This record gives sequence, C-alpha cells and structure tokens, in this order.
Amino acid sequence: MSNIEFTLITGATKGIGRALVDRLHQRGERVIGVSRSHDDSFPDVLITADLSDPIARRDALASIVREYGVTRLVNNVGFNQMQALENITPAMYQKVMDTNLAAMVDATQAVCPHMRQRKQGRIVNIASRSLLGRKGGSVYAAAKAAMVGFTRSWALELARDGITVNCVAPGPVSTDMFERNNPPGSESRQLLTQSIPMGRMGKPEEVADLIDYVLSDGASFITGQTLFVCGGSSISQQHF
Ligand SMILES: NC(=O)c1ccc[n+]([C@@H]2O[C@H](COP(=O)([O-])OP(=O)(O)OC[C@H]3O[C@@H](n4cnc5c(N)ncnc54)[C@H](OP(=O)(O)O)[C@@H]3O)[C@@H](O)[C@H]2O)c1
Repeated sequence: MSNIEFTLITGATKGIGRALVDRLHQRGERVIGVSRSHDDSFPDVLITADLSDPIARRDALASIVREYGVTRLVNNVGFNQMQALENITPAMYQKVMDTNLAAMVDATQAVCPHMRQRKQGRIVNIASRSLLGRKGGSVYAAAKAAMVGFTRSWALELARDGITVNCVAPGPVSTDMFERNNPPGSESRQLLTQSIPMGRMGKPEEVADLIDYVLSDGASFITGQTLFVCGGSSISQQHF
C-alpha cells in the first residue's frame, strides 16, 4: 500500500460527487472515485463497480483498501425512485436501501481499520432534505433518515479514534439524479422548486463546499451532526 492518503468518493463522476472530486484534485489532493461507467475525463483513480450489487461492491472495496490508504470517505452514491405507498415493490425497496445504505455500511467498514490505525479520519454521509419527509418518496426518505442514525452512532463509536462522522443533507440540486426524478414540466419539479425559500435550486458546487469543509482539519471538533445545505427548504413548512 502506498503512503499517500486518499479521499474515497462513491458516485464520483457526476453531480455532487464530481464537483467535490474536481475541487480536491485542483488543490493537488488524491482521490479515488467509484461509478458504474468509465469516464475518460476523471482526473484521478476511478474504479468501476455497481455499488448496488453486494458482491461487486465488496470486491471493489476490498481491492481499494488493499491498494490505497483512505483516511477520508464520502458516502455519496444514492438512488431514488419515486414510489407512492401503494406502488412500493420489494425489488425497488431493496435497490434504494442497497444503494443508499448497504453501500455506505460496506464502504465505512472497509476503510475504518486504516483510519483507526492512523488515529485520524473523516466520514461524510450524503443524506437529503427528504429525510424530513418526502411525499411519494418514502423509501428514499427512510433510507436517508436511517443515515442520520448510523452517523450519530458511528460518531460515538469512532470519536476516541480521532475519526469524525457527519451527514450532509442537500436540498434540490441540479444534477442528473434530480432531472431523472423530476423531469422538466413535472408537477414534482414545480412543487419542489416553489418550496425552496431561497427560490432556486442548489448547485453541486454549493454542496461540495460544505463537504469540503467537513472533510477539512478545521472541522476537527464537529462529529455526529446533520448539516443541511438546502436553500432553507429544511425549515420551510412545505415538504414535497
Ligand atoms: N440532486 C439532488 O437534488 C439531491 C438532493 C439531495 C440528496 N442528493 C444525494 O446526493 C448524492 C449524489 O446525488 P447526485 O444528484 O449528485 O447524483 P448524480 O448527479 O446522478 O451522480 C451520481 C453519481 O453516482 C454514480 N452512480 C450512480 N449509481 C451508482 C451505482 N449503483 N454504483 C456506482 N456508482 C453509481 C454515477 O455514475 P454512473 O452512472 O456511471 O454509475 C454518478 O457518478 C446521492 O446520495 C443523492 O441521494 C441529491
């Protein structure tokens, strides 16, 4: 294993993950990204694996920690398929839980031994404002709410090892995921946009700014917290 310390970012080639990768890379920091498809424009180490698949996920994580020292982890990969209560299917339920939660648990377990050994580490779990409630998106909301429980519990378990664990919960951000779930002209897009007190969607870079801070040395006494970056939508009375 090399002596260089890496930041591992799941779901790294697009959207929020990519905005963070570009920021860290521009500062000369080393990153390992994971995505399903190869991306020639990715600036550092990119591993391709479907993180919703338990075997592919564990194989990829095992090979990453064999080769690289990871002291910062951003559990960013996620998946949402809007499903009203009556439309929830076991397969979709499983995919949402696997991609948002099981991938987070496996990645955190994989990197923790090295962080503990180094007595330093940063873990940032990317949740969503939806954890407060999402009409028609209860499975996603439940998965993101569960992240808060994991975050607070792991923060307690890892505090004496110098490892902080926090959640960043974005509101609506213009990314492929948002476009897929809320296509132009859809009712959900209109309602979501109207409900943001700041009157606009967030940009991936605005979420990357907060993650970058939580990863930094300056955030060394912040642990177990859920930080919203949402244009005020987490304090609005309107939840969609
Ligand atoms: N956008 C929003 O409005 C919003 C709001 C709140 C929270 N979030 C959360 O923020 C996180 C990032 O979302 P985003 O909007 O930035 O997503 P995005 O723009 O759609 O990008 C997703 C990234 O993850 C990769 N990916 C997707 N599924 C994967 C899988 N099964 N295995 C490995 N890689 C996978 C994608 O690459 P490949 O397609 O090549 O796999 C891509 O690099 C998610 O956890 C999401 O729930 C987003």
